Amino acid sequence: MLRTYDPFKQWLLKKIERIIAKSGITGSSVVDTLYYNCQDTPLSHDLQLCNGKQNEYYATSASSASLANIYNGLCHLHDYKGNCLRNIDTVMLQRYAMLTKKNQRDLKKIGYLDNIDKVKNGVINVNCKTVEKISATILNSLDKTNDSTGILSDLKAVFEKKTYKTFESCPNYRITEALSHIIRDWHTSFDKEREPLLSYIEDQLKKIDTSNNKRTLIIMPGSGLGRIPYEISLKYSNIDIHSIEFSNLAYMCNEFIYLYEDKIQLSPYLTYFSNHVSLNDQLSTFDINLSGYVKPANLKIHLGDFNKFTIPNENAAQYDNIVVITVFFIDTASNIIDYIDTIESFKRNCLNKVHWINVGPLKYGTKPMVQLDSKSFDKLRKIRNWKDLDSQIDHTNVGYMTDEKSLYKGYYSLYKFHSSIQS
Ligand SMILES: C[S@@+](CC[C@H](N)C(=O)[O-])C[C@H]1O[C@@H](n2cnc3c(N)ncnc32)[C@H](O)[C@@H]1O
Repeated sequence: MLRTYDPFKQWLLKKIERIIAKSGITGSSVVDTLYYNCQDTPLSHDLQLCNGKQNEYYATSASSASLANIYNGLCHLHDYKGNCLRNIDTVMLQRYAMLTKKNQRDLKKIGYLDNIDKVKNGVINVNCKTVEKISATILNSLDKTNDSTGILSDLKAVFEKKTYKTFESCPNYRITEALSHIIRDWHTSFDKEREPLLSYIEDQLKKIDTSNNKRTLIIMPGSGLGRIPYEISLKYSNIDIHSIEFSNLAYMCNEFIYLYEDKIQLSPYLTYFSNHVSLNDQLSTFDINLSGYVKPANLKIHLGDFNKFTIPNENAAQYDNIVVITVFFIDTASNIIDYIDTIESFKRNCLNKVHWINVGPLKYGTKPMVQLDSKSFDKLRKIRNWKDLDSQIDHTNVGYMTDEKSLYKGYYSLYKFHSSIQS
């Protein structure tokens, strides 16, 4: 039976590959061995290794919180420059070369090729510089935060000497997306996108008694680049807050915000050639000074799948209330009911109630199993015994990394609710 079961075959294959790589039977390279060792190295929150222990927040199931996930993210950052320039060459220059001589002459006259060069310069001189800073900062921090083990110096060495090997592919737009999210979360010009979200969350948090130190816990899944968890952590410094992010790139960029103590520059629209009024808009550069941001002591940042996240429950029901805050998140689920099950699972860790505060759209992502409108979502909570303290559709337009100068601008209305369930 098992031999015909695909996941089992994959698992077995991986095991055999690891054994072969470790034993060096095939003369496998240093980097293969390093990668397999990274797969066996669990990562705890905030870039800390578990040092032989299990990750206490992912106790019951395998998680993506491993050093291999960081290794893969670092490869993708290092591959960014080559992939970006290659994409521009393939899409812009190779297609240009296919045009008639007459078309080419006209385009040259209006500076088409010069503009493409300026975009490539922006990639090299703006975005790649920041990408290099992110990678170096993460590698240094891993080394500094953890007892110096061989694996971390090997990791540093393969990236410094550029002898790394990319084991998992990653479309380049994911790097661009992570870089754009840095701006959305940490640049002042995007305050207007964050403030309506924060103000709803803060209004709803006021309805919960959080005065009893350490008796409330806040969990923020799908935390992205982490600005909202940062603001909530500052405001509620007496409460422990866990943010959980699935994307290795977003997680590393979020850690970078707190670790890097200087200015960075980013051009988020560079590699996107549509809907610009002028080249200058496409080349727009944003400066951010990261020196003032210190990670709040009450905030733990986790890399991993929210659906597998657990609260260590040696002392079960250690909280009065647990508050789960979801921002632009619920529509990312493959099965939204899995998120609800996970949120409800926290009932076992609290004496009183699990609260759920949500704000965001319902724009379903890749291959959703279930797609609910807001009214159906309200009904689903009701039949599962959730009691709403608030539920509304706010039709004020809120942007999400919206380029105000673009010929195309996307805005969302927000589905907001605050609901609670008795433990
Ligand atoms: C649309 S973004 C919103 C980010 C952030 N909440 C904000 O408002 O800026 C959704 C985020 O959820 C993350 N995500 C998706 N599925 C997840 C899961 N199962 N566990 C944790 N994070 C997840 C994605 O990687 C992405 O960063």
